[in-house]
Amino acid sequence: MSFKLYPSLIAADLLDLRTAIKELESSCDGFHLDLMDHHFVPNLSWGPDFVNSIACATELPLWVHLMVTDPGAIIEQLQLRTQDLVTLHYESFTSPELLLELALLIKKTNTKVGLAVSPKTDISVIIGLLAQFHQILIMSVEPGFSGQQLLPASYAKIEQLIQARRDQNLNFRIAVDGGVNLANLNKLVQAGAQDLAVGAAVFDSFDGPVAELQRLRAK
Ligand code: DX5
Ligand code: ZN
Repeated sequence: MSFKLYPSLIAADLLDLRTAIKELESSCDGFHLDLMDHHFVPNLSWGPDFVNSIACATELPLWVHLMVTDPGAIIEQLQLRTQDLVTLHYESFTSPELLLELALLIKKTNTKVGLAVSPKTDISVIIGLLAQFHQILIMSVEPGFSGQQLLPASYAKIEQLIQARRDQNLNFRIAVDGGVNLANLNKLVQAGAQDLAVGAAVFDSFDGPVAELQRLRAK
């Protein structure tokens, strides 16, 4: 089964990201970037200028994961490309209408758009929204920090998405982010995960991120 791997750069050596990007480019499908605003999640990371700089440093797709309370304000400042994808969180919006409005705005700029659901959010709330997104992301940890264990409930959520995709005759991709590693990758892919963000497993590997990515790829 085919799947795509996106190293989550928040887990890399933050003082040497250009080296990490260049080193990993030939072993991955793109880079996962976590934007956290210390309100939506109890952590703070990068802003739009940072993402725009990364977009200048690599031709590979960027998967920009917005863990923020005001995604619209961030989107306005992002300069993304057709190969990139922005993930919005269902929980960032006060209504599905506002979520769909922003998703449409992003699509008009020819950047792809994804929808994420946090672990405590029931999948049923997004079933009617699926048609508008290129990718649906199951958060397999509580958003905010790299290095957590994958929540086992994630497998059943992937199955719910597969069922809904079949029922509605859609073709969005299914993504998983959080706690992905060599031990669970096969099970996730067999369940139907197609895009995987991987942080600690890649960057804390004993023999370096490239070797770990190659092991994950060979799974
Ligand atoms: C969690 C982030 C993830 C995280 C993944 O809030 O969205 O992208 O960086 O890191 P690991 O793979 O270490 O859980
Ligand atoms: Zn993420």
